[in-house]
Amino acid sequence: MDNFVFQNRTKIIFGKDTENRVGQETIKYSNKVLMVYGGGSIKKTGLYDRVMKSLKDAGVEVIELPGVQPNPRLSLVHEGIDICRKNNIKFILAVGGGSAIDTAKTIGVGVPYDGDVWDFFTGKAEPKETLPVGTVLTIPAAGSEASNSAVITNEDGWHKLGLTSDIMYPEFSILNPELTFTLPDYQTACGAADIIAHLLERYFTKTKNVELTDRLIEATLKTVISNIPKAIANPADYNARAEIMWASTIAHNNLLNTGRIGDWGSHNIEHEISAIYDIAHGAGLAIVFPAWMKYVYKEDVSRFAQFAKRVWNVDDNFFDMEEMALKGISALENFFSSIGLPVRLKQAGIDDTRLEEMADKCTQSDTVTVGQFKKLNKQDVINIYKLAL
Ligand code: NZQ
Ligand code: ZN
Repeated sequence: MDNFVFQNRTKIIFGKDTENRVGQETIKYSNKVLMVYGGGSIKKTGLYDRVMKSLKDAGVEVIELPGVQPNPRLSLVHEGIDICRKNNIKFILAVGGGSAIDTAKTIGVGVPYDGDVWDFFTGKAEPKETLPVGTVLTIPAAGSEASNSAVITNEDGWHKLGLTSDIMYPEFSILNPELTFTLPDYQTACGAADIIAHLLERYFTKTKNVELTDRLIEATLKTVISNIPKAIANPADYNARAEIMWASTIAHNNLLNTGRIGDWGSHNIEHEISAIYDIAHGAGLAIVFPAWMKYVYKEDVSRFAQFAKRVWNVDDNFFDMEEMALKGISALENFFSSIGLPVRLKQAGIDDTRLEEMADKCTQSDTVTVGQFKKLNKQDVINIYKLAL
């Protein structure tokens, strides 16, 4: 196990009706907020009215920034920064999923910065301060509600890049599993793929002697795998929704990568797909992750065999190590298919015309490698896209 520092400051408020506490949590920071949300699901479900009432009752004035799209765009971030500056806003509240939260976090670091906030994503500058951010989560998926990162798409060139900084953990996140009852099955499934991918990015490591985090990751994977079909069969199954929602936070709040180095190659490879083709990040991961696994498993066959045995109950009395590894990969792929996700680019309507371009962007014209478990150059990334066709 490697040395580590673990500190996650996000306060989690979990359970039924907890969105009604948003006002009392927010007023601790400011009596004027920018409320960031998406394309309207929160109005359809009635959540918008409850959040507004709670804020109003607490004496909080609200200025709104609606219209966040999945794969959130830099232009809306710029708009949010302007609104905050003009109105002297000191707190940002995201109501929605990863896209709303990432928009809020990026506005947060953009407001006190003199240059263009995109500088932080390209590495030209590092964020030093942020406006505090709170969230009311409506989809378990990205884990942004308790992560120190944000992912934004710059429409100029369709670059989708991530920014990680410990100042970006939200101050609080409100997680009511009932808010996820209205998710379409496809969004539930995309969320599952993202949660599973966050776990697997951490699981496939070269770090030795990480038994505790291995076991915690396996348990979280098994919890998601067993509860997603229940939530799809019965969208109002509170217990299943609660397990999934908590798993999504645990999968990405950095507890499960303590003492180990994660991979993150599949995320980088996927971001190029959702940047250009605007598909859901989770759907992209359901396509990329199995392909990545097929490409890299020989780096450490025993780790893949362990995944097959412990997560998918593949019996090691009947198969050798390599067969075990391949059975684990097929089991994951079959699971994604069984919950309605694409597992090939073609199933998402994507052909081979832009593979080279995506690999080029992913590796910055072959000047950097991606991933840690196996460091991948541009040709490796092309090979993985081809395996995923
Ligand atoms: O926009 P609205 O109308 O709200 O609809 C949303 C959106 O269309 C809908 N939705 C959300 N909650 C709902 C609901 N519909 C009905 N009922 C509800 N309760 O779902 C759609 C997807 O929302 P989005 O916020 O885009 O989903 P997600 O949470 O999966 O976020 C995806 C983004 O997060 C990034 C991804 O790359 C992607 O851009 N990620 C952020 C990370 C982070 N900050 O730590 C890590 C992740 O790996 C990921 O890269
Ligand atoms: Zn993800």
